[in-house]
Amino acid sequence: MNTSTSSSAPQGALPRIAVLATGGTIAGSAADVTNTAGYQAGVVGVDQLLAAVPALSTIAQIHAEQVASIDSKDMALALWTTLAQRVNALLSTDDIDGVVITHGTDTLEETAWLLHLTVKSAKPVVLTAAMRPASALSADGPLNLVNAVTVAASPAAHGQGVLVAFNNRIHSARDVVKTSTFAVDAFQSPEVGALGWVQDGRVEFQRSVVRPHTAATEFVIGATWPDVEIVASYAGASRVAVDALVAAGVRGIVVAGTGNGSIHASMQQALADAVSQGVAVVRSSRVGSGHVMRNGAAPDDAFGFVTANSLNPYKARVLLMLALAAGGTGSVALQRAFDTY
Ligand code: SIN
Repeated sequence: MNTSTSSSAPQGALPRIAVLATGGTIAGSAADVTNTAGYQAGVVGVDQLLAAVPALSTIAQIHAEQVASIDSKDMALALWTTLAQRVNALLSTDDIDGVVITHGTDTLEETAWLLHLTVKSAKPVVLTAAMRPASALSADGPLNLVNAVTVAASPAAHGQGVLVAFNNRIHSARDVVKTSTFAVDAFQSPEVGALGWVQDGRVEFQRSVVRPHTAATEFVIGATWPDVEIVASYAGASRVAVDALVAAGVRGIVVAGTGNGSIHASMQQALADAVSQGVAVVRSSRVGSGHVMRNGAAPDDAFGFVTANSLNPYKARVLLMLALAAGGTGSVALQRAFDTY
């Protein structure tokens, strides 16, 4: 990990913000300024990203670290451990007032949610990203970075959990999802909307997150991760994938079900068999908004399934991994985690 501190004029009492770079399109580069799809993610270093935005020195004293240089589709569990541990270490000192993480958009919602559950500080942690590479005409990364640092430097962001600043909006890590493959306004919080907005140095929150997060959770970041996989249900789905996962020894399976988390009968029987072999099964939905609540009798009580509430399958997997790592077993204990967080 390389570290550096951005140079700037005398900074008085400006907040001290750590910018941790991990790669992504915000650090992407293409041969042509009009190219916004065929580029290489994660090749522009953090110092270059910061140098492109001199205005940052009027908002905060920046301490920069290059934690990784990846396309976030390749995010690894070991890197999650490194990142969460680094955020916790920085925030535990009196030298840092908040953290900004630059990240690829593709798995940003998963990393943000993981940190929302495992960072042990009320200081702001703000993720940001870009849909257009740094080399593009009208690149969105520089303004997103300014806005993320502005939010992290704002007293209003204290105690709000992990946040995502993107296209002038501030989202909670719990709610935010990527909803477009190409649009600059790619991040939304379905059903509940953004927490607030940031524009021209002003930060305004219009609501707060209600569910416990950060220091109020029971979860700590660990070095080992229980193996949890995701399967989808669809027309003609079979039991093949579930049986293969159980044979491979997974500890949990999240189902991206149809509609209200419903599951094709063939696959559902395989999942019931999986529970009887000690595998945790969580029903979520592939729909993209809404929630999946317990169905009373079948299939949840009858088969020992857990429901994901309003978490999408990818976030449900993160919570299931943390809950299993914390020693949670059985559908009652795991359902409590999904109903709490
Ligand atoms: C990535 O997720 O690293 C690439 C895509 C992006 O950042 O938009």
